[in-house]
Amino acid sequence: MRKIESVYDSVAQEYALAFAGEHDKKPQDQEVLQKFVREVGGRGPVWDLGCGPGQTTAYLNSLGTQASGLDLSEKLLEQSRASHPGIHFRRGNILELEFREGSIAGVVAFYAIVHFSEEQVETALREVLRVLRPGGIFLFTFHVGGETIHIEEFLGKKIDIDFMLFSTEFILGCLEKCGFERIEMIEREPYPGVEYPSRRAYVFARKPEV
Ligand SMILES: C[S@@+](CC[C@H](N)C(=O)[O-])C[C@H]1O[C@@H](n2cnc3c(N)ncnc32)[C@H](O)[C@@H]1O
Repeated sequence: MRKIESVYDSVAQEYALAFAGEHDKKPQDQEVLQKFVREVGGRGPVWDLGCGPGQTTAYLNSLGTQASGLDLSEKLLEQSRASHPGIHFRRGNILELEFREGSIAGVVAFYAIVHFSEEQVETALREVLRVLRPGGIFLFTFHVGGETIHIEEFLGKKIDIDFMLFSTEFILGCLEKCGFERIEMIEREPYPGVEYPSRRAYVFARKPEV
């Protein structure tokens, strides 16, 4: 995790600049986030995990839900706090969440699993399931595919990091194995000229009621 943290620390300023207001250019992001807020709004705490510079956390707040952000990179968190005063951001690791079991109404994680191995994806899903309250909603996104892309340059900086693409079958199987229900996956083509040209998936999943 140290390597991921230091890569994001090194591009924090550029990332915050490049991704500010990202959802303005992505209508389907807006649609799924609005649906998420309709389902969890007012039912308890909402967290944006792997929040990066906080653009999704801020969008959720603009929809009237009080969402907080969590990330590994302290430098990205500094950017988040500076750009979105009034929103709570804290450092944490998705693979070992420091939240009580059943304490969160909704979790969003946009592209937060992109550096995880398949085993780590399962750990992350189990952690999210643990901290969600019964009936709580998880909305996350990933790049669809089977390959690992090695990146050596990002936003004008030299870096060294792998991005993992996952098959929809793997993600669906993993969600079912972990015990999520009402799983819904929406796939779309990339927005040309707006984002990296990979196929995207949004996933809604629910923690069963007891
Ligand atoms: C591809 S970026 C996505 C950021 C943001 N959600 C977005 O959509 O722009 C992945 C983010 O996940 C964070 N991250 C990666 N592994 C993490 C972990 N184990 N715990 C918390 N954050 C993590 C990184 O620091 C980075 O901010």
